[in-house]
Amino acid sequence: MDVYEKLQKSLAAVRGITDFKPKLALVLGSGLGAFGDRVKSICSIPYAEIDGFPVSTVQGHQGRFIFCMVGTVPIVVMQGRVHYYEGYDMQDVVLPIRLMKLMGAEELILTNAAGGINRSFVPGDLMQVTGHISTFVPSPLRGANVEELGVRFPDMSAVYDKDWLEEISAIGQRVGVPLKRGVYVQTPGPNYETPEEIRMFETLGADAVGMSTACEAIAARHMGMRVAAISCISNMAAGISKQPLSHQEVKETADKTGPRFEKLLEAVIKQKKQS
Ligand code: HPA
Repeated sequence: MDVYEKLQKSLAAVRGITDFKPKLALVLGSGLGAFGDRVKSICSIPYAEIDGFPVSTVQGHQGRFIFCMVGTVPIVVMQGRVHYYEGYDMQDVVLPIRLMKLMGAEELILTNAAGGINRSFVPGDLMQVTGHISTFVPSPLRGANVEELGVRFPDMSAVYDKDWLEEISAIGQRVGVPLKRGVYVQTPGPNYETPEEIRMFETLGADAVGMSTACEAIAARHMGMRVAAISCISNMAAGISKQPLSHQEVKETADKTGPRFEKLLEAVIKQKKQS
């Protein structure tokens, strides 16, 4: 089944359950799952119920779409995302992003947990993604171009919307959640990086490293979505801190940062009604 066929099949499955039309899509990264539990869900669909959807076999990664209102803004939330390291093709990894656009979402907020490369960062910092390096993972646009979605050679010179970035930064200040800024580099995972790789990424100009987001942002820009991304610096990357990395540490810091992150997201989404 080709990409577009799969997408249409998934869309039909969703439309068989709800005709909810989100304005904005939100992908929740590690530590932010609680945001999905806290919103007043109008409808939710486990990924496993959607035909053609890449469903994770990895424990703890089952997820669902949640359709809800935040203030007056209709949104679709991805509680749990699909990662490349689970073994899917990149085209499958970004299917949910494309699907949310086809549901109606014109704007996308991506969140994630990431390792801090920039030495001025500390675990618990929130970083607005100003740009990314995706060169170390395959492009989600590889293969026949789906003309219905976007052009063959899409421009990527401004993936993360600059006006929105400034707006979010101002909202952060207003609600007492200060934000750092930086460049995100995506690795294939699932292993964390070696100190040598991190040194290379530092030389390349990356401030944070993670295993998601850049590919999703590419697929979203291909379709003309307005994109913002925010990383929770859950740990310092390998070699920056002398401590060995553990998923446990990543999860604990991300969980601790959750309430601050949620406060910011809620304010950012509610702001949408004015624009
Ligand atoms: N490296 C890659 N991905 C991550 C990290 C990291 O240090 N922390 C959280 N996600």
